[in-house]
Amino acid sequence: MNIQALLLAAAGIVIASATPNSTAAALTSPLSNGLARTPPMGWSSWNMFGTSINETLIRQIIDAMSSSGLHSTGFQYVNLDDGWQRYSGARGNRSLEPDPEKFPSGIKALADYAHEKGFKMGIYTGPGEVTCAGYTASGGHEVEDAEMFASWGIDHLKYDSCCEYSNSPTKVVQEVVLKMSEALLATKRPIVYHACHCGWNDIWQWAASEGANQWRIGQDISDDYNYPGNRQGYYFDVLDMLDRGKDLARYAGPGHWNDYDMLVVGLDGMSTQLVGTGQSNVEYRAHYSMWAMVCSPLLIGADVRNLDQDSLETLLNKEIADINQDPLGKQAVVIHDGTLQVYTKQMVDGSYAVALLNRQGETRNISVSPEDFKWTKARVRDLWKHTEEGAFADNYEVEVIPHEAKILRLWEA
Ligand code: GLA
Repeated sequence: MNIQALLLAAAGIVIASATPNSTAAALTSPLSNGLARTPPMGWSSWNMFGTSINETLIRQIIDAMSSSGLHSTGFQYVNLDDGWQRYSGARGNRSLEPDPEKFPSGIKALADYAHEKGFKMGIYTGPGEVTCAGYTASGGHEVEDAEMFASWGIDHLKYDSCCEYSNSPTKVVQEVVLKMSEALLATKRPIVYHACHCGWNDIWQWAASEGANQWRIGQDISDDYNYPGNRQGYYFDVLDMLDRGKDLARYAGPGHWNDYDMLVVGLDGMSTQLVGTGQSNVEYRAHYSMWAMVCSPLLIGADVRNLDQDSLETLLNKEIADINQDPLGKQAVVIHDGTLQVYTKQMVDGSYAVALLNRQGETRNISVSPEDFKWTKARVRDLWKHTEEGAFADNYEVEVIPHEAKILRLWEA
């Protein structure tokens, strides 16, 4: 056992054994913290509220996650994004502190509240002098900040190098990711580590070996299904994000995930932070289903205190969450490409989750065949209709309306 493994064993963190689909780098990294064996599910403050957050809001969010059934569906993390901090600008010799007006009881009290209700608590900072919203960050104070987060009972850290390190060489970004990784491990508290770098420097190729559990594959999401072009040269819509991840499946596996960014389901174009005009219920369902298929972390970005009924129903679909949380941790791959796509995701019980995605503006039939899995016959279940569809030796063909994703589960029959 190496020193890191001993350290983790002492802290009660068990490193799970190798799985065939994990990247070699992640498995052999002494920095692996053994956490996030399935993609983290929860809520994050950024997409809806930006920096306008406070402890009353977060407590209400926790209560709403409980009473709505989202918590029991698997959404566990409640993550503070940027804007919790007291100071802006350069760090100097100050410590990081919560804004006393927004969080008068402090972050520890909030984390205690989250834990009492069965949730986990996440926080945000970054390397360098300031965060993306201009708040004082952690550069040069990694050990001090990691210890403080651990003493507050933090369970998840988003460490954001998107802004200060957007043009840095890969080696420099690797060093900043590594510093915080080591600092977190040294605290001996199990803290899931998100190295957020907006999909630059091919981060998926190396972040797991620096100890990260998740990394963004692109810039910020917009609340659009398919906006022509890249909004303001920065924001990616749902289809853009899916396309960015199309060849990245091999980098995902238990403990290390491609992060497609926080969910926009239920924002309905009302985000104070993101661009985008909102999406139809069919589009939000497709977005949520596809994020589940590609093993992205599932962090709700909407105001869960006031979710519309359709969005709530979407997020409460346990059969979809189960695809995302399958212990095999295989990210879906595209087996038929074009404007009508078929994605398949191998599941631990030998079955496959299948997405039939109609990206275009007209209703079309899309099919999947047992032959796609080298089977002679398959039993099919529709995970949005919650119905058994019978067994098929030939094509299983269904009508898919514009922008819809039909999500099926197929077993050999
Ligand atoms: C960047 C990240 C966002 C969010 C903001 C906070 O833009 O990509 O997800 O964390 O910073 O300032």
